[in-house]
Amino acid sequence: IPVEPFDLVIFGGTGDLARRKILPGLYRRMLAGQMPTEARIIGAARSKLSHKAFREMIAEALDTFIGAEKLDPEMAKTFLSRLHYMHVDAMGEDGWDDLGALLDKDANPVRAFYLSVGPSLFGPIAEKLYNTGIATSSSRIVVEKPLGHDLASAKALNAQLAESFDERQVYRIDHYLGKETVQNLMAVRFANALFEPLWNARHVDHVQITVSESIGTGGRGAYYDKSGAMRDMVQNHLMQLLCLTAMEPPGRFEADRVRDEKLKVIRALEPVQPDEAVRGQYRAGPEGPDYKTDAENPDSRTESYVALKVHIANWRWTGTPFYLRTGKRLRARMSEIAVIFKEPPHAIFPKLPAHQSNALVIRLQPDEGITMRMTIKEPGPGGMRLADVPLDMTFADALGPDAGDMPDAYERLIMDVIRGDQTLFMRGDEVEAAWEWTDAILDDWQERRDVPKPYDAGGSGPEDALALMHHDGRRWREIEV
Ligand code: BG6
Repeated sequence: IPVEPFDLVIFGGTGDLARRKILPGLYRRMLAGQMPTEARIIGAARSKLSHKAFREMIAEALDTFIGAEKLDPEMAKTFLSRLHYMHVDAMGEDGWDDLGALLDKDANPVRAFYLSVGPSLFGPIAEKLYNTGIATSSSRIVVEKPLGHDLASAKALNAQLAESFDERQVYRIDHYLGKETVQNLMAVRFANALFEPLWNARHVDHVQITVSESIGTGGRGAYYDKSGAMRDMVQNHLMQLLCLTAMEPPGRFEADRVRDEKLKVIRALEPVQPDEAVRGQYRAGPEGPDYKTDAENPDSRTESYVALKVHIANWRWTGTPFYLRTGKRLRARMSEIAVIFKEPPHAIFPKLPAHQSNALVIRLQPDEGITMRMTIKEPGPGGMRLADVPLDMTFADALGPDAGDMPDAYERLIMDVIRGDQTLFMRGDEVEAAWEWTDAILDDWQERRDVPKPYDAGGSGPEDALALMHHDGRRWREIEV
């Protein structure tokens, strides 16, 4: 799809996300031929830098985050020449006139503002953009989590943005929606006739959604300790995975149709019962210290792990639980959605001792791909001996070596902003509905002064999370690479 010439202003343009993800992503999109020659990328931040100094800073970032050996020197030079820098004081008056003047000179048809700054600046920057006339009625604004801390703060944030921008101009990023396999989940469900008839409580025993991380709080202890796994991961990333897995087929693959269906899933979630929620906190292990040390809070009761049993009260899913779990410092970095099917109604073959029923596993990372676990006959004359085998659709194998070179989530999402496609962005009502549901769980923990269950760093989570499954005669899938 062709890309119109654009002006992209990145507030927080010298920050970590801009240097690590946004600008390297834009460089790669330029290599892919998606950056018109007129396009301008404007870094805006509080420090006083020249265009030249900013370009040098980003040249270094490309070296670090793409790798000097992988850069095409000519292309990198062209990319850097598209960069500009503006000193802008988000809370004051400095720099706004200059920014307006730069944008008006040789203005491009698409104007987008990426707010790669803390959420307390979303409202003030949006207001300034509107009041100064720098943002027009066709401009786009991009924001990213934390989109609130609870329902009340999320509502306040949405209301602040709504004062200056229409909902159709607001792009709320959840980078999980930019992951290739997450989009592939929709392709698998809605571009094949095979799965949809089975995609319901009659045929699906349960669903497991796992986002397991091996890292700890990764130097973000102070932020993380105020949020915890529920706010940091479940309210957004796992919720989005749940929605895409459970939603009804939208009438068209179009932003509001898809988002309407996701919203219906969130609104159909039943409140989680206290005994169907487990929170954990890691102990020290060979790889590093315990959570409290990482978070620099010796009394912390913040959870670094959550497991939930979730019920969706609608015709399609009543009777099929969705089990969600996510945690830090677990055995491996592994994210997947596993749809576990029921056994055939009548067995005519002797049962395998360790038999596992059919499962469709959508692997987000690492080794993105999809596998279908099937039962077949073992070859040989030894009678009807069965075996469970994976039908493997690892993308790199199925689609050739180029498929291994997947665009980063941010690359895809930024280009969607430029193209004006909101399908993979969260709508305000969706974010609020998700908070409403997670708030109830968080409030319950708070009221009971719940203490998270300890789990071993490098393990697979607290005992209680295993018990949550065992109690139902089910098992979590192994966390492994
Ligand atoms: C972020 C969380 O949104 O997602 C982090 O704040 C987490 O705590 C990260 O580590 C995981 O993203 P990914 O793409 O590495 O799975």
